[in-house]
Amino acid sequence: MYLLGIESSCDDTSVAVCKDGHIISNVVSSQLKHSIHGGVVPELASRLHTKNISVVTREALDRANIEATDLEAIAFTAGPGLSGSLMVGTSFAKGMALSLGLPMIEVDHMVGHILSLFLEEPKPKLPMLCLIVSGGHTQLVLALDYLEHLVVGKTLDDAAGEAFDKIAKLLGFEYPGGPLIDKNSKDGNIHFLPLPTPKVPGLDFSFSGLKTAFLYALKKKLESDPQYINNHLSDLCASIQHKIVQYLLDKMFEAAHQYDIRQLGIVGGVSANSYLRAQFQSRCITEKVRGFIPRFEYCTDNAAMIAFAGYKLWQGKKFTSHFTECYANTKNSSRPNAIKNP
Ligand code: KG4
Ligand code: ZN
Repeated sequence: MYLLGIESSCDDTSVAVCKDGHIISNVVSSQLKHSIHGGVVPELASRLHTKNISVVTREALDRANIEATDLEAIAFTAGPGLSGSLMVGTSFAKGMALSLGLPMIEVDHMVGHILSLFLEEPKPKLPMLCLIVSGGHTQLVLALDYLEHLVVGKTLDDAAGEAFDKIAKLLGFEYPGGPLIDKNSKDGNIHFLPLPTPKVPGLDFSFSGLKTAFLYALKKKLESDPQYINNHLSDLCASIQHKIVQYLLDKMFEAAHQYDIRQLGIVGGVSANSYLRAQFQSRCITEKVRGFIPRFEYCTDNAAMIAFAGYKLWQGKKFTSHFTECYANTKNSSRPNAIKNP
């Protein structure tokens, strides 16, 4: 059974093919044109999706060595994300499904990220605890089954990736700055700049105070040393990266203890962070739990996770009307395949 997955929620146009639930092609076209603007420009993103989506789809079919007529279903990201970007993927999915006479399956982007943990061996056992850390979301989710999820913690302000990107901007990096903080922190001293740990009760997160504390510390130092950033770049990157990673992991392990879960996974763009990956693995060993992080190409936005989630939904016959519309967020909406937000 061949199924096509389409992802266009932010600034990556991606199309994948899965055969009986196994990914056989996954093509990602990342929109690099946003970097000069310091962030994703929604209008530009949707225009670039429109330009790229046919080519990326052709490439995904070619790499899978199949024709569109071999497909049996079309899965697509219906939300959450940027409205215009989602509209391009949704409309394209509708066009293909209608012209080929195929069923459509709407996939929630966050569910896709969770299921990215199941694209390769070894797979986690369910139930598991999942930390989703991307540019737009930070959530702790209990995955009771493939498609049964419960949010137990979330950010009250910025997402972890957003915090990385905003702090990177203060250091003079282009967007997205998260990977550049990672790269530049390699030989840095993690204790160089003392930073406060955000105080949010329970399993929720907050990152805005950390960003402000970093900004004020930087401003003060720059007054006496205009070259402060250049002279201490790796130490500054290492300090903020250490703080964000420790904070994320502390909350995650608190949740694991609270819910007595011994299978843990981290997904989303920030899970590509090398320090987070290393710290997570060593902490899992210390705490005697099993830890999973997808391989790099499945951490950031990709259609492989959408195709796989689509396949699971297809198995449950969770089809979508050809007249469906995408959704920018899940607040006040009850989309059938989205994670239920408390
Ligand atoms: O999941 P994703 O590709 O897109 C969204 O759905 O948001 O996540 C993108 C985010 C960006 O904020 C980017 O800076 C961050 O993931 N990111 C990283 C790293 N690679 C990507 N943050 C820290 N270290 C990295 N190596
Ligand atoms: Zn994402």
